[in-house]
Amino acid sequence: MEASEAKVLASACMRRRTVRTFDGTPLSPETCELLKTLASNGENPYGIPVDLRLIDAETYGATSRVIRGTSWYVVGSLPRCPHAEEAFGYVVERLVLAATAHGLGTAWLAGTIDRPAFEHVVGVDRDENRIMPALIAVGVPAARMSALERVMRSKLHADERAPWDTLFFQGDLAHPMTSPDACGPTLAAALSCVRLAPSAQNLQPWRLVCSDGHIDLFEDRTLPLRSIGDVQLVDMGIAMLHLEAGLAQRGVRGTWSFDGPVAGVAGASASATYVATISY
Ligand SMILES: Cc1cc2nc3c(=O)[nH]c(=O)nc-3n(C[C@H](O)[C@H](O)[C@H](O)COP(=O)(O)O)c2cc1C
Repeated sequence: MEASEAKVLASACMRRRTVRTFDGTPLSPETCELLKTLASNGENPYGIPVDLRLIDAETYGATSRVIRGTSWYVVGSLPRCPHAEEAFGYVVERLVLAATAHGLGTAWLAGTIDRPAFEHVVGVDRDENRIMPALIAVGVPAARMSALERVMRSKLHADERAPWDTLFFQGDLAHPMTSPDACGPTLAAALSCVRLAPSAQNLQPWRLVCSDGHIDLFEDRTLPLRSIGDVQLVDMGIAMLHLEAGLAQRGVRGTWSFDGPVAGVAGASASATYVATISY
């Protein structure tokens, strides 16, 4: 990732929050063009082709019961294969952050959607070899949140994140980092980007182990698996994008690998599953 793009995305990490209440205005033709351009960039560390498109869901009779004031969604599918969820999370979050940088609001949605209707739109109901792990609502944020959104944010503790010593570790999973002061400023900035990422039910399954020039990512899965796959692996793909942008904003270019952790085995538990490593 180029430093110029990374600066835009990393700064959007700080400002982004889930928007479920939109102002009801239709998207301008320029905004539609922008979103279509963003949706056409499917590049991801796994090289899995991700097929995304912008739709006016009203045309298809598809809705989400938590969204007010927009009928625009970015929907898509990809092959049912190992790492599909991470690739999807990475690609769609790049679009989310770029849209945020342009003043748009977005909401990741995996559960509170009319799933059969959206799956029909993208055709996964007719092709068992493809999945639609999630989608996003997009539009111009309203000045005030709906009452439902306020209640949801409060229930999800959406403005809160787990402490550093739950999410980030040094050397192995037995040695938690107590604060950003435990690492250098570049790493601290990158990990802060990860910590602000959205995640399903705000469960923040990311566990990151830092060692010299490498960061291993583990998934601490707490949600059950469903036919749509492991939604928390989507969260992991989102975290990968935030981490990469957080490093690259300071000119640190990372390379992804998936062959196993560099981290030591101490502290490893059955609940933490290895996902990926970034080396820099
Ligand atoms: C993969 C994924 C799926 C999500 N699914 C839903 C959903 O179905 N309904 C919903 O209202 N929010 C959903 N969210 C939004 C999360 O609840 C939200 O990211 C979290 O509460 C943190 O709040 P924030 O995004 O404002 O920081 C989802 C987020 C992610 C990353």
